[in-house]
Amino acid sequence: MSGHSHDPVLMETLCKRMHAGEKKVALQTETGISTTTLVKRYREWCIKNGYKENKPVTNFTPPNTVKEVLQAHIKPPEPKQPIIAPQIPAGATVLAIPDMHHPFAHPDALAFLLEVRRVKHTNLTVCMGDEIDAASFSRYIPDPDGMSPGKELAAAIECLIPFYREFPDMLVCESNHTVRPWKKGFEAGLPAAFLPTYATILQSPDGWKWAGKWEIDGVLYIHGDNGKSGQYAHVNYMKAAKQSVVIGHIHSYAGVNYEGKHFGVNTGCLIDETAYCFKYAKNMLTKVNLGCAVIYEGKYAEFVPMRLDSNGRWIGRL
Ligand SMILES: [Fe+2]
Ligand SMILES: [Fe+2]
Repeated sequence: MSGHSHDPVLMETLCKRMHAGEKKVALQTETGISTTTLVKRYREWCIKNGYKENKPVTNFTPPNTVKEVLQAHIKPPEPKQPIIAPQIPAGATVLAIPDMHHPFAHPDALAFLLEVRRVKHTNLTVCMGDEIDAASFSRYIPDPDGMSPGKELAAAIECLIPFYREFPDMLVCESNHTVRPWKKGFEAGLPAAFLPTYATILQSPDGWKWAGKWEIDGVLYIHGDNGKSGQYAHVNYMKAAKQSVVIGHIHSYAGVNYEGKHFGVNTGCLIDETAYCFKYAKNMLTKVNLGCAVIYEGKYAEFVPMRLDSNGRWIGRL
């Protein structure tokens, strides 16, 4: 080991240079410090400073001309959602979990979903969105008797943790309720760089991935908050997409409709309709449809109703 490696100022400089991408071999030639020592000290430096190894703080190269500067800013940056596409197996039996609106989900939602997974032998799980309600982040006037945003978020995470344990891998559709806190940030003028990922805020495991849509075995999975509504929203999305489509979002209806080899699925919801955030629907004539859907190899689908007893609890079997 070279004596130079005991010079803290030199090592700090070398670590910064390695972090910026300079080759360790070149630094060894320059300083006489072995690459083994350089790597060891660089790792320690990364841990101390909270950096990921070989991930420069910035890889931004200043543009040279005014035109390049403008072009670099024409397209606003996307929110920092995960960019690694998960492996999606072909011929999957998909459990499609509808809107749960944590912390206002039906108390038996998880037990019911585990039974569906067991009985139907599903091997891939998609959450159709509205996994949280974020009522306190809404643009509508929040309930003065309701939870604060901080309390509601903490409660939602607490409710989601058992789902994280049972479903460590989940493809999640981006949706109008989950996006509410991010919309607040946007409206407050925060650039995308200030908005953390869904996974960070919801403290989800690495296997939970969010996207505007997922395609599995030729079937499109979307939340369904994009213009079509009512009892046949899933059919209308199917017709528009010209392929099979699965949606959430429409709590009041559920079911499957076929048109030739294509189908549209409304997965219903798994909410606690007595929760204060659903007061707005209290006097509606249409009631919620509790359940979920299973999609078989992209060819067939079924809606699985959650059967309730007189107390509004799941009866414990399908
Ligand atoms: Fe919803
Ligand atoms: Fe929704």
